[in-house]
Amino acid sequence: MKVLVATEKPFAKIAVDGIREVVEKNGYELALLEKYTDVNDLYKAVADADALIVRSDKVTKEVIDHANNLKIVVRAGAGYDNLDLEACTAKGIVAMNTPGQNSNAVAELVMGMLVYTVRNFYNGKSGSELMGKKLGLLAFGNVGRNVARIAKGFGMDVYAFDEFVPADKIEEAGVHAVANRDALFETCDVVSSRPATWSACTSRPLPRPSRASTTLW
Ligand SMILES: NC(=O)c1ccc[n+]([C@@H]2O[C@H](COP(=O)([O-])OP(=O)(O)OC[C@H]3O[C@@H](n4cnc5c(N)ncnc54)[C@H](O)[C@@H]3O)[C@@H](O)[C@H]2O)c1
Repeated sequence: MKVLVATEKPFAKIAVDGIREVVEKNGYELALLEKYTDVNDLYKAVADADALIVRSDKVTKEVIDHANNLKIVVRAGAGYDNLDLEACTAKGIVAMNTPGQNSNAVAELVMGMLVYTVRNFYNGKSGSELMGKKLGLLAFGNVGRNVARIAKGFGMDVYAFDEFVPADKIEEAGVHAVANRDALFETCDVVSSRPATWSACTSRPLPRPSRASTTLW
């Protein structure tokens, strides 16, 4: 059984070593296709693979068509929009993702960008601090929850709206729930947007007046 890791942008060595250990301990063979620039290389590599692990690499119908033995595709990441689910289903291939796995790393980056932004992109002029500011989270999923946890350490007052998470669940996490997206922009100084579905959040204009002076999409 062959497990193919196909990554245009490779995983860190420590991650590949970990995958190798698990795969080989279980008697499977690991094949690596890293930094490929020609999709034909992926077509060739996937031809005899039983399992495929990717990052944001596109697993299109063409990739699936070239796979003769494939049983499972795993997208190492939160979303799965780079997988052609219809093509997988048609060939009985299981498609999986890894929700939540790197959400803390994303949340730390959000906070880093937030500091950078309110400090005027480090242009040498004085900016402002985050303590006491109202942070709005548009979506309260894995990333949103981690941002809330870290932001509270900064002394921020955290608000959230999520189309699918009820207000009481948001309040349980010590975060103020607001009624809708516009209320978030009207209430908060800064908003971090991490929805699973972008168009519903970005296709409508923001409310006017909007209190939020900074928005991280
Ligand atoms: N976690 C990561 O490693 C990572 C890395 C890069 C990018 N992203 C992106 O960040 C986003 C969030 O990731 P996550 O891990 O928190 O996902 P998640 O699935 O845990 O949470 C997404 C949240 O968005 C909510 N949501 C969906 N539609 C909404 C809408 N219209 N308005 C408000 N809320 C809405 C869902 O109810 C859910 O709670 C995704 O788009 C993901 O692709 C995540």
